[in-house]
Amino acid sequence: MQVHHIGVQTADIDATLEWYSQFFNGGKENWALDSFSKLTLSRLPGISRLVEFQIEGVRFHFYDREGINQDRRVPGPEFQHCGLAVESAAELLRYRERWFELARSGRFKAPHWSDPSDVVFDEDGVGSLYVEDINGLEIELTYIPDDAAR
Ligand SMILES: [Fe+2]
Repeated sequence: MQVHHIGVQTADIDATLEWYSQFFNGGKENWALDSFSKLTLSRLPGISRLVEFQIEGVRFHFYDREGINQDRRVPGPEFQHCGLAVESAAELLRYRERWFELARSGRFKAPHWSDPSDVVFDEDGVGSLYVEDINGLEIELTYIPDDAAR
C-alpha cells in the first residue's frame, strides 16, 4: 500500500494553491471538480470545489467547505500532521527561510501565523522541520540519511 493523496480542507483554495506552489517551488494542478457525488456531499457538506495539486510524488486534494471554522485548534483526535521527506539536510533550512519569505511577503492571510520550528537533528542525523501552511495545518519536513536505519 502507499499513500495516494492528502486531503486539505480550506476556506480559500486559490490562496492555498498559491502558497503550496510558492513554498514547494513548483507543483501542478492535475484536475479539478465542481460537482460531487451524494456520498461526497454527505461527507463534506458545503463543498463546492476540489483541486488535485501534485508536488513531485505527493498529491494534495484541496477543497473548500462553506462556513468552515478557520480556528481549527480544537483538541480532539485527528490526523495531526503530514510528514514529507526531502533530499538533503540543506533543504530543511531552505524551506524554513522560504516560509519566512512568504509570511513576510504580505501576499498571504492566515488565521494564525506560528513560526516554524527550528531545524533539529537527532542522534541518527534525522532532521526535522515543522511548519504550518496558511490554513494552520502542520507539515513536517524530514531528512532521513541513507544510513539512519529508519
Ligand atoms: Fe511526524
